[in-house]
Amino acid sequence: MLSKIQGLLEEIKGLQAASAQELEELRIKYLSKKGRVNDLMADFRNVPNEQKREIGMKINELKTAAQDKLNALRQALAVREDDGLDALDLTRTPYPAPIGTRHPLTIVRNRIINIFSRMGFTLADGPEVEDDWHVFGAMNFADDHPARDMQDTFFTDQNAGILLRTHTSSVQSRVMEQVQPPIRVICPGRVYRNEAISARAHCFFHQVEGLYIDENVGFTDLKQVMLTFAREMFSPETEIRLRPSYFPFTEPSAEMDISCQICHGDGCSLCKGTGWLEILGCGMVHPNVLKLNGIDPEKYKGYAFGMGVERIANLLYRVRDLRLFSENDVRFLEQFTTAY
Ligand code: PHE
Repeated sequence: MLSKIQGLLEEIKGLQAASAQELEELRIKYLSKKGRVNDLMADFRNVPNEQKREIGMKINELKTAAQDKLNALRQALAVREDDGLDALDLTRTPYPAPIGTRHPLTIVRNRIINIFSRMGFTLADGPEVEDDWHVFGAMNFADDHPARDMQDTFFTDQNAGILLRTHTSSVQSRVMEQVQPPIRVICPGRVYRNEAISARAHCFFHQVEGLYIDENVGFTDLKQVMLTFAREMFSPETEIRLRPSYFPFTEPSAEMDISCQICHGDGCSLCKGTGWLEILGCGMVHPNVLKLNGIDPEKYKGYAFGMGVERIANLLYRVRDLRLFSENDVRFLEQFTTAY
């Protein structure tokens, strides 16, 4: 009897089941009423009394071992089924559902648009592939101005003067040729320049330009709008500084700085010790530009400004390498979250 039990125990240890059906067959064979383990119970009646205790324990051990083994086989089968293609539900929502984030340049551009919209500016748009007239001619560039040079401008057809716009001032020209003042527009968009790509320069970047034309517009209007913009964009304590500059399309022209957001004027590495950070160009629209675009310079005056979105994003986020903005590396992109 003992050797029979031992033999069964060995047999059970080596059991294998490749399917649920095989497993059920094994259960019937060993553990059902008419199974091997119960057969032993029948024999048990004939066991002499003095051996009953020992053999009873062995039979119980065998029964537990058989149950454990079948349970283990059942679990192994379940795991294998989960792995299988049948168990893969391609329609199930993956959790956590990854949601995208806005591109940092979109965030900054939207903030700029939002600030100027609240001051009454509307959006204007224009083509990125432009003609020489709207980019340069209508903007009072001399025929031999170096910006037209192959060095700075990507021409798609130099003879026909078709090129990738180098600034969004072309949109200002397109607006002026279509509507008479009052004009209050901002023109956000991508621009292209023939620059070697590095951490600090790229062959394309983004601008937001603004144009305001009406009767009695003065430099003070420009200055106040720029101050309001700087304080909304950066912080309420921000100061601005206007330095004389030159653009063919504005007179007078200025370069605008904001007080350094880190040292607040004391001088640090961000502002290179000056306490100021340059953020945009601006000025009063040159009378020639008004005339060239069909607006009477005797009646109307205006101001214009233009800023680089990357430049402002750099100041807000301290991005060290401009190339990160266009490489689409999610490890960079997912760091920016906002309500805009
Ligand atoms: N168009 C200028 C630029 O690219 C920016 C600017 C716009 C300056 C309007 C003054 C007024 O760089």
